Amino acid sequence: MNKVAILYICTGKYVVFWKDFFDSYEKFFLPHSEKHYYVFTDADEIYREQECERIHKIYQQPLDWPDSTLMRFHIFLGIREELQQYDYIFFMNANCQAMDTITEEEFLPGDKELLVVPHLAFWGKTNLEYTYDRNPKSTAYIPKGEGRYYICGGVNGGKTQAFLTLMEELRHNIDVDKKNGQLALWHDESHINHYIIGRNDYRILTPAYCYPEGKESEFPMKILIRDKSKWIPVDSIKNQGFVKMMKFYLKKVKDKIKIILGRN
Ligand code: GAL
Repeated sequence: MNKVAILYICTGKYVVFWKDFFDSYEKFFLPHSEKHYYVFTDADEIYREQECERIHKIYQQPLDWPDSTLMRFHIFLGIREELQQYDYIFFMNANCQAMDTITEEEFLPGDKELLVVPHLAFWGKTNLEYTYDRNPKSTAYIPKGEGRYYICGGVNGGKTQAFLTLMEELRHNIDVDKKNGQLALWHDESHINHYIIGRNDYRILTPAYCYPEGKESEFPMKILIRDKSKWIPVDSIKNQGFVKMMKFYLKKVKDKIKIILGRN
């Protein structure tokens, strides 16, 4: 039986999604695999953690947005050794909900190494319309005209070694960006899109596996991305984080100016 690690972050108010996530994944996701849930949270107790020994709760303090999404690879690599025992690792957004059976055949990477899902909003569009990061100063930069797919950040994974390597490289790239005062346009999603450019070792599914709530499309809903704003005050969480982030970058600019003035 395959052993699968599912990486899941639900700090602060996001814990509201855990119950439906867990119940739906237990019911529908990879029914013939042994699934272990690594839940990074600051909640004192989460649904079913007492009864299910495949739930591994790890304390994670809430980070401000956008670090709450951008720093996921740093967070997950904190349990790198533990993850080595699994055959596959998958990351799932807190607001994912499995809606129908998702078999091993349809979801695991097979003879490929990684598993990615195209973003519904860019399905059928040309790469000039993709919201890749176009800032050459960021490590997530993708020049115009390159790239086959626009990948969503909410559902991805792969064989253990391949996904650990991805996480290590992206952690490094994000550290470089931070040092240079850069922030990729769509955070971790921009970095993943950059990572898969030029590779052919990934299996790509359809947008059915990252299906935003409320959107019409030809695809069946396999993994629903629930509308967060129905459950938590997403905008105010992002605004608070945004103000802090702007202060951080402003300080960096001020420090640079001081250095330049000092040199003159
Ligand atoms: C939005 C989505 C964002 C990001 C963006 C990319 O629809 O909410 O998380 O993926 O598309 O352009």
